[in-house]
Amino acid sequence: MSVNKEIKRVTTHTLQEMKLRGEKIAMLTSYDFSMATIVEDAGIDVILVGDSASNVMAGHETTLPITLDQMIYHASSVVRAAKKALVIVDLPFGSYQGNSKEALNSAIRIMKESGAHAVKLEGGAEIRESVERIITAGIPVMGHLGLTPQSIYKFGTYTVRAKEEAEAAKLMEDVLVLQEAGCFSIVLEKIPAKLAFNATASLKIPTIGIGAGSGCDGQVLVINDLLGLTKGFKPRFLRQYLSLYDDIKGAVSNYIKDVKSVDFPSDKEQY
Ligand code: KIV
Repeated sequence: MSVNKEIKRVTTHTLQEMKLRGEKIAMLTSYDFSMATIVEDAGIDVILVGDSASNVMAGHETTLPITLDQMIYHASSVVRAAKKALVIVDLPFGSYQGNSKEALNSAIRIMKESGAHAVKLEGGAEIRESVERIITAGIPVMGHLGLTPQSIYKFGTYTVRAKEEAEAAKLMEDVLVLQEAGCFSIVLEKIPAKLAFNATASLKIPTIGIGAGSGCDGQVLVINDLLGLTKGFKPRFLRQYLSLYDDIKGAVSNYIKDVKSVDFPSDKEQY
């Protein structure tokens, strides 16, 4: 998978081995070269080029508007930075729901045009055929269950999913369907911790949680949320490690002040 023989790339097999030895998997999103370089250099296991780019990069209210071409642009920027991390890319809304041939074509475009290592699709039994077809072509697939933001208009809200017995039972079935279809891992988003624990225990493949508790085999967060870049977004599951929105705003205010007062550039900052 890596052309650089010095660096041992994280692969889907590495993640499987990590689950077996009980080592937690750390995954974060990135959408551009600069951020992916920092995330990579910090030693992340997996970078997800999430369709959350639609929200945090493009300012859309949902993940629905982002296109396959836009995902490929973000993914290829991230791939150029990721020397060791496994890079997984979301198939965006509308690029795989039609039929399995469309799903395969979209996955092939992502792999060929971005150089990423795997794709992620939202859904359970209803996307089984697409998952199998993509995997048959040699492309690793990550599943995504629980709160699946591409279906937000069906759900109506971003609240915790699968609290009711019927939805929890369907999720327990769906994780097994995805594992049987060949997924190498499954994201579990915003579901009760007990359910995520049970789903994780029922699987051979690793689960990666977001708002799904500590019983998952790994965790994922949107990097902009972790860094405190996303104004006013502080759900219970989010641990915010920095307050970059305030820091950057402060820095920009200082810059504006310095320009207006002709403090910048100083003698030392000119030729
Ligand atoms: O798009 C995304 O960032 C995701 C993660 C939140 C799992 O799917």
